[in-house]
Amino acid sequence: MQIAERMQGVSGSAIRELFKLLGDPAIISFGGGNPSKACFPKEVIREITDELLRDKADILLQYGATEGYMPLRRAYLDYILPGNGLHGELDNVLALTGSMQGLDLLCKAVINPGDVVLVEEPSFLGALQTFHVAQAKLVTVPIHTDGIHADELEEVVKKYHPVMFYCIPTFQNPSGYVTGAATRKRIAELAAEYNMLVIEDDPYASLRFTGEKVPTIKSFDTSDNVIVLTSFSKTISPGLRVALCFGNKDLIRKMTIAKQGSDTHSPNLNQAIVAEFINRGYMDKHIEFISGVYAKSANCMIEAMDKYFPEWVRYERPVGGLFIWCTLPEGWEADKLFRRAVERKVAFVPGEPFHTTPGAGKNTFRLNFSAEPEERIVEGIKRLGDLIREMKAEM
Ligand SMILES: Cc1ncc(COP(=O)(O)O)c(C=O)c1O
Repeated sequence: MQIAERMQGVSGSAIRELFKLLGDPAIISFGGGNPSKACFPKEVIREITDELLRDKADILLQYGATEGYMPLRRAYLDYILPGNGLHGELDNVLALTGSMQGLDLLCKAVINPGDVVLVEEPSFLGALQTFHVAQAKLVTVPIHTDGIHADELEEVVKKYHPVMFYCIPTFQNPSGYVTGAATRKRIAELAAEYNMLVIEDDPYASLRFTGEKVPTIKSFDTSDNVIVLTSFSKTISPGLRVALCFGNKDLIRKMTIAKQGSDTHSPNLNQAIVAEFINRGYMDKHIEFISGVYAKSANCMIEAMDKYFPEWVRYERPVGGLFIWCTLPEGWEADKLFRRAVERKVAFVPGEPFHTTPGAGKNTFRLNFSAEPEERIVEGIKRLGDLIREMKAEM
C-alpha cells in the first residue's frame, strides 16, 4: 500500500501513544488540555438542545451551509469579536469543526510544500503536526516568560521570509506565557511589511485570572494579513467541536472551498447550541465562573509546587489559561521523569515534542491544572516533587 509523501516522517508522538494506556482512573493526570468536567454548562446545554430540537429540528437535522450556521456567524460578529475590539462582515467569518480544522484549511489554502512557516518554540503539538503534513519548512522564534521578543521575531522574518507565522499570543500552549501589546503591534506591522500571514490562535484568552486583557494582534492589523481562530473548546465544550475564524475575505473564501471538500459543513446542532448560548447571554457569566475555578486550581498547583518541588525547578505563576511550564536543569530528561512518574500514577507531558529544533526542550515539561480536583493536584505534585529529588540523588 502506498503512503503519501506528506505523511512520511510524521509520527504520532510516542508520548501520545503512552497516554492511550493511561485510562487507569488512579492516574493523576496533569497531561491533557482538557477543561474540567465541573465546568461544562450541562444544564444550559440540555435546555437549549431540547428547545432547538423542538423548534428547529427540520433545519438543524438537514445539511447546512459550508460557511456556517447563520445565527452563529452573526453572534460572533455581534458579540464575540466586538468584545475583542474587532469588527467585520459575514464574508470575513467561517465556522469550523474545531480550530484545528482552521489550521488544516489554512494550510490547504496557503501552503505549498517547502514553504516556510514560522512558529513559536515551544508551540502547540497539534499545529506542528498539521504544518508537517502540509510539508512546510518550520523555523522558530523563542518564547520567553514575557512572550515573544519583537527583535528576535524581526530577525527571523527578515532572514527566512515566512509565508505564515503561527502564534498563540495569550496563555500560550504549552508555556502559558503572554506576548505583550507592543510586540503584538509589531507583529501586525511585520505582517504588512513582509506580506506575511499571521495566524492568531487564541483559545485561552478569555481564561484570565488577574490583570488586564491585552489587545489582539488583529486589532493592530492594517494590511488584512492577520487571521483569528476562536474556539469554544476551552470555554464551553471541546466535544461540540465549534470554532470560528475571522479574517481576509478572499482567504476565507478559499478556506470555505477547502472545507467543502473536507467535511461539507460543521454540525448544525452544535453550532446552534453555541449560538444560543451566546445570544441568551450566558457567555460572560460562564467565563467568569470557569476562570474562577481555574484560578483556584492554578493557585493550588503553584502552592503545592512551591512546597514540594526543589527550588531549582523553574516555573512561573500563571495569570490565565490551563498550563504551567516547568524547566529542569540542563542535562535532565523529562521523558525519563515521565516514565518513572507514570509508575507512581502521575502523568504530565514532557516538553520535547513541543519543540521544532532537534533535541531542544528535553529538560522541560508541561503541567495542566484544570482536569483534577485540588486534593489530587496536591498529591500528584507531592509525588512528582519526591521523584525529582530521588532522581537528583541518583545522578
Ligand atoms: C493553541 C491551541 N489551538 C487549538 C487547539 C484545538 O482547539 P479545537 O478544540 O478548537 O480544535 C488547542 C487545543 O488544545 C490549542 O491548545
